[in-house]
Amino acid sequence: MDPRPIGVFDSGLGGLTAVRQLRRVLPGEDIVYFGDTGRVPYGSRARETIVQYARQDIRFLLSQNVKFIIAACGTVSSTFPSEEAARLPVPYTGVVGAASRAAVNTTRSGKIGIIGTAATIRSGSYAAVIRDMLPGVEITAQACPLFVPLVENGYAQNGSRATELIIADYLTPVRERGVDTLILGCTHYPLLKKSIGDFMGPGVTLVDSGKVTAQAAAEALADLDLLSGRTDGGSARYYVSDTPANFAEQETMFLGEYAGGPVERIAIDAY
Ligand code: DGL
Repeated sequence: MDPRPIGVFDSGLGGLTAVRQLRRVLPGEDIVYFGDTGRVPYGSRARETIVQYARQDIRFLLSQNVKFIIAACGTVSSTFPSEEAARLPVPYTGVVGAASRAAVNTTRSGKIGIIGTAATIRSGSYAAVIRDMLPGVEITAQACPLFVPLVENGYAQNGSRATELIIADYLTPVRERGVDTLILGCTHYPLLKKSIGDFMGPGVTLVDSGKVTAQAAAEALADLDLLSGRTDGGSARYYVSDTPANFAEQETMFLGEYAGGPVERIAIDAY
């Protein structure tokens, strides 16, 4: 048993979709969340920049004495070197493994779609893991670089015409390929789930990468005997690198019933 908090980070607020699920499945755990709101988005940046940002995010979480780190960001998960992750002093997971596993378990036709940021799709991370698990799979991967700014700027509500048009533009080729499973490979995308689901149609199952990762992390913590042993009363502390005011406005949207907890701004460059 281990009473220390679980550390979760993202380039912005998308990782809160993983926190929401963590709170649901592990209500007795303390959580420290860092959202790099001052430097979001990561997905349009160079690989070296993303790795350098991720190192700082991880150092900050380690300074908070976390027992386990979740990179609740498809972009970091697709970019941060696995050898470096393996050398960290605490266990680390990204979202690619759990989301790929969920997609492979879901598909019946063997046609899987993946959507993510430009950096995620360029890395080929999901496709490589899925091909290992399911040889012969047909993969359609599509970068959706405008989705993160739409979500971070409050355009995720159903009925935004701009959002509907952009969804149709990005997802028409994916729908035409006849996929039956679509990985939301960026943790911001569940905020667009209803609109994406409506566009793709009822025959397509959407895989929420943050949600399935939270579930997998809960199992890993249990296997490693790292759970706190408490069944409720877990707290959450939130840190951001830009003004906490925007975070407070948006956290309900991401966290739903689990909103709440102190928010503090930190100087991430110092880490
Ligand atoms: N939530 C991040 C991800 O999963 C957003 C990426 C970005 O900052 O561009 O990829």
